[in-house]
Amino acid sequence: MATAADELDGQVVMVTGASAGLGEHLAGVLASAGATIAITARRRDRLEGLAGTIEAAGGRALPVTMDVADPASIAAGVAETVAALGKIDVLVNNAGIAITKRAIDCTVEDYDQVMDTNLKGAFFCAQAVARSMIARGGGGRIINMGSLLGLKVLPQLSLYAVSKAALHHMTEAMALEWIRHDIKVNAIAPGYIETEMNRPNWETDGGKALIQRFPARRLGVPSALDGLVLLLASGRSDFITGSVIPIDEAQRLM
Ligand SMILES: NC(=O)c1ccc[n+]([C@@H]2O[C@H](COP(=O)([O-])OP(=O)(O)OC[C@H]3O[C@@H](n4cnc5c(N)ncnc54)[C@H](OP(=O)(O)O)[C@@H]3O)[C@@H](O)[C@H]2O)c1
Repeated sequence: MATAADELDGQVVMVTGASAGLGEHLAGVLASAGATIAITARRRDRLEGLAGTIEAAGGRALPVTMDVADPASIAAGVAETVAALGKIDVLVNNAGIAITKRAIDCTVEDYDQVMDTNLKGAFFCAQAVARSMIARGGGGRIINMGSLLGLKVLPQLSLYAVSKAALHHMTEAMALEWIRHDIKVNAIAPGYIETEMNRPNWETDGGKALIQRFPARRLGVPSALDGLVLLLASGRSDFITGSVIPIDEAQRLM
């Protein structure tokens, strides 16, 4: 029986923020499912390492240096990908940062950094890729990386939470406008997932205490996202658009 994964054969997927964490993991999963992956981020050396790993496993990957906080860099990265791979069928709009600070202490620079990456960056990546999809006429799928913190707030993450709530709304707005071009736009809203970057936080007393408040008293692992991302990247999710789907083992209900 065909699976959602089989349906990615011949598909081109662009993953932003693929040099680390969830983006790096998902690029590998989508490549294993048959897609050719444009892996994008600022750290070229890490992208080249990941491309080598994907190709050693029999997949195909194109490293593309791209800073999502710079619209000119996004335009160049999308153009480079389309020139090299012919098209983009799926965008995993994943690049993101968090600044942990009380709202009272956040600076204008903090605000710009978080919003330029998580919201403006995601907006113009989606727009640039959607333009290429519309020009080609074959439809496409966009998966925005939202967050539990776009659904509920926690202390010291105000800028991040605001950016992710706006990203969820952006998902609905783009889905509404682009359905006529057969472009499906959805967001996933993961709970806390342990990655290389955030691991030290979970070893602190505060991190351990937060985990004890989660209903399942454990963190997620990156592979927890695989099934949902494969579904949203494949034609099996064709009637799903404008949806923000929590994937958090009920952490949002704590
Ligand atoms: N981990 C979690 O618990 C969790 C939960 C919910 C949602 N999320 C979301 O999932 C996404 C990935 O998070 P993560 O935990 O994997 O974080 P991570 O390990 O810190 O990785 C972040 C990625 O984003 C890239 N990035 C940051 N700024 C960029 C920029 N200006 N231009 C291009 N790429 C940029 C980084 O690459 P370079 O530095 O090389 O550019 C890196 O590849 C984020 O949107 C995050 O908000 C994470």
